[in-house]
Amino acid sequence: MSDLILTAHKESVWEITLNRPDKRNAINLDMMTAFDDAITAAMRAEGVRVIVIKGLPGLFSAGIDVTAFLTMPDKYGPQWQRFMRRVTDDFQGVLTRLERIELPTIAVIEGYCLGLALELVMACDMRLVLADTKVGLPETRLGIIPDVGGTTRLTRIVGVGRAKEMIMTGAHYTAESVADWGLFNYVVADQAALQAKTDWLVNELNQAAPLAIGMAKRVIDGLGDIDRGLQLEGWAQSQLFRSEDFGEAVQSFMTKQKPNFKGK
Ligand code: COA
Repeated sequence: MSDLILTAHKESVWEITLNRPDKRNAINLDMMTAFDDAITAAMRAEGVRVIVIKGLPGLFSAGIDVTAFLTMPDKYGPQWQRFMRRVTDDFQGVLTRLERIELPTIAVIEGYCLGLALELVMACDMRLVLADTKVGLPETRLGIIPDVGGTTRLTRIVGVGRAKEMIMTGAHYTAESVADWGLFNYVVADQAALQAKTDWLVNELNQAAPLAIGMAKRVIDGLGDIDRGLQLEGWAQSQLFRSEDFGEAVQSFMTKQKPNFKGK
């Protein structure tokens, strides 16, 4: 398995750690593939009752690897935008598999949790977070939308008004400032409290029957029309990848300049 993702089996817990510290845990396709493998491995391992997903101390993840967009013309040729729908499908597929695994999943979040990273934790069942963590979906500041389930799942979790605010502004928030949105199960003050809350939740989950947990999860998730949302995200994004503003935003990320959006 790639060292971009670390796994550890600790009693009933399968721990998955994002591990790309030099790039703030920015998520590229290799990391996503390794993450998918880690989920499959958890399903196959004997005695696993809970999956815990975390980043490094002080850092969950800065979201999608923006530099990967620059490699698309080399990889797919001048008509690279035509292939982006398939790339979106591949990324969505990983988080859909995460969401549908019958084991309970807990995301333990600190530092930064932006864009694709927030989309990933929203595909988990429960989220624990440090109060000063910066969270947000900055995709619209790149000329695109959250298309890996973020638009659909955020709306389902926090409601239309708050989802529109977070997605349409692309702003960063502290977890503490959105503590009453229902995005996080617990917002805690320090790492000791984060660990204690994780241990408590694992212990409580271990008291419940695994088959019942899996069924409860499927029923609760079955109440929302996730698949239709994912299709809409993929459709909208395939238009936006062709826009001049998206190209401008990626160039601006590389040069650390403010993008000049023209609405085309
Ligand atoms: N994609 C690719 N590389 C990223 C990245 C991302 N999303 N986020 C950080 N990196 C890289 C930086 O380019 C830098 O690489 P370098 O050392 O080769 O120059 C390295 O990680 C360190 O990042 P830096 O910005 O110097 O760290 P910081 O601690 O000052 O800031 C963040 C942290 C998270 C605030 C900042 O990195 C950031 O805003 N990242 C982009 C977040 C984003 O827009 N994500 C995409 C959402 S759609």
